[in-house]
Amino acid sequence: MEKILVTSALIYANGPLHIGHVAGAYLPADIFVRFHKLIGSDIIFISGTDEHGAPVSIRAEKEGITSRQLVDHYHAQIEKSFQGLKIDFTNFSGTARPVHHKISQNFFLQLFDKGYIIPKIGQQFYCEHDKRFLADRYVEGECPFCHAAGARGDQCDNCGKLIDTITLIDPSCKICGNTPQIKETKHWYLELPKFESMLRDWLMTKSHWKDNVINFIMGWLNEGLIERAITRDINWGIPVPLADAGDKVLYVWFEAPIGYISSTVEWAENIGNPERWKDYWFDKECRLIHFIGKDNIPFHALIWPAMLMEQSEPYILPGDIPANEYLNIEGSKVSTSRNYAIWVDEYLKYFDGELLRYVLAANAPESKDSDFTWSDFQVKVNSELANILGNLANRVFTFSKKFFDGKISRPLELSESSDSLLSNSLEIISVIESCYRNFRVRKAVNLILDLARSGNRYFDERAPWHAVKTDIANAEETLYVCLELLKKITVVMTPILPGKMLQLRSMMMLSENYQWDSQEELIPEFHIGEIEPLFIKITDEQIEEQRILLEGSAETETAPPVHKPEISYEEFQKMELRIVKIIKAENVKKSGKLLQLEIQLGSETRTIVSGIAEYYKPEELINKKVLMLMNLKPRKIMGIESQGMILAAVDSETGLSLLQTFRDMPDGTEVS
Ligand code: 2FM
Ligand code: ZN
Repeated sequence: MEKILVTSALIYANGPLHIGHVAGAYLPADIFVRFHKLIGSDIIFISGTDEHGAPVSIRAEKEGITSRQLVDHYHAQIEKSFQGLKIDFTNFSGTARPVHHKISQNFFLQLFDKGYIIPKIGQQFYCEHDKRFLADRYVEGECPFCHAAGARGDQCDNCGKLIDTITLIDPSCKICGNTPQIKETKHWYLELPKFESMLRDWLMTKSHWKDNVINFIMGWLNEGLIERAITRDINWGIPVPLADAGDKVLYVWFEAPIGYISSTVEWAENIGNPERWKDYWFDKECRLIHFIGKDNIPFHALIWPAMLMEQSEPYILPGDIPANEYLNIEGSKVSTSRNYAIWVDEYLKYFDGELLRYVLAANAPESKDSDFTWSDFQVKVNSELANILGNLANRVFTFSKKFFDGKISRPLELSESSDSLLSNSLEIISVIESCYRNFRVRKAVNLILDLARSGNRYFDERAPWHAVKTDIANAEETLYVCLELLKKITVVMTPILPGKMLQLRSMMMLSENYQWDSQEELIPEFHIGEIEPLFIKITDEQIEEQRILLEGSAETETAPPVHKPEISYEEFQKMELRIVKIIKAENVKKSGKLLQLEIQLGSETRTIVSGIAEYYKPEELINKKVLMLMNLKPRKIMGIESQGMILAAVDSETGLSLLQTFRDMPDGTEVS
């Protein structure tokens, strides 16, 4: 029996779960695990929330709550979303728990004692305004590699490279926006170069890994490994277990993967068998498989194995790292900061979680980025699930009930077309099996759909609606073969649509406990029970509603304003700004743009020519009090001397608006 330990990346507990996460690291893992349960493997599925680090503390600071409150909130919400999608972890933990702190500190100490972790004085950004060192995501700037703007201090989202924070170009503090200074400070570094040859030897045995993973790691190794700081100055994290470490905490990327172990330990404790986790982590025969998104490759394929290699306990190393590419939405990149995402908790208010499983599996970003669109969601649900699979079940069940009272017996002998349909389906099923084993879910979905298509074709060709009148045995054979095919589909589709397949089996009164190899035997008689539609079609209105929700919630990106050079207060004071009342207004002849205004302040009046005719009619300006720059040098406009300037806010799209005061102020009031 195969023994497998599957993990999915620990998701940051700093926001809700979105469908990009699901497509990358969770659904493919859940499908893999469900398949292996069907073939009888000894498999556990471990994950949890990543609860420390700058991503969490920055968000908590922004929301004005503690990191603990943030983490508790999102842990619960994320777990519920996973349940709604039937992502069925053996254990789902969180890294702020004591068990994880203890194991992480031990990991650190073992590497420290062996000389793989050393203190070093290094340079780091320090914000004079906030009086703190700025770790990782507390700084943003231009990526030193690909020059994309908005790269985070630890990693660039655009090119995926890990960044040494102080190499960021044009850095700014994420808290206050100021430019940070470089200061010296002590941190502890993991001496990755010492692992290089061990890692190379180990990676030589991994030629079966996906190209994206191999290419990424080889690129890294060929550039040469460098030591990496694994401690941070943040007030939320796991204390560095050394007397001279002060308030420093472990870098989140050092301790997060250890969460795979602590979550397994927690599970063993929960089931009352505290040593059970070792049956997986210490068994050389057990395959460790990490499902992740592509941005997590360097941590899982290099740093994490290095950390495991030199522990005293006999930990297994990653056996496979099926990293997925990204899922875009309606052609654009997911952006959590702009709220451009499809959040799972929102999705679940409108649709069944299993429909999303199907659509994401059919469109999994396995070898390149893929795109989720609402119209494709509708097509897949209506034209594939409902019209092909649902239709096959529905027509066969209805026919069986109508003409055979729901009881269909196995024919003594199968005709050639029936035999070839069933034997062909067994061949396809063996290909589906290898797809599941090799993380090729997209292809598995396609093949399963082909099975259902072949059933519909067979049904049409044999036209049981005619046969039932002339050759009843022939009609029964047709139904029997279709039911056999449906029975097989309930098995092979289970990893993708676990609940729907149970529902289908229950309509066919088949057992709830079934295994992959159950499809070989032909059962003597089918009984059809209560039937109900398996898939409800999605209407155009439902899709339109989702499109509007998606567009409406995304904040449109606005470019930062470009500022003018600084001036002194004295320079500002040179301007004489006052509130004035417009007492007369008329169009300037031969000009569509200009108004001639007469303004009053106390007993003084002045003439102004102002380019506001496109925005205001003369009559609506009378008696309005506006803001004016008094001491602008007079100039002649269309032959009229303009003695100052009325101030207005101008925007290329919104137009122009004169400025007024919050409260009514006497004309002549000075503005400072
Ligand atoms: O990138 C992320 O979302 C990280 N929270 C993944 C951590 S995976 C593992 F190392 F725990
Ligand atoms: Zn970059």
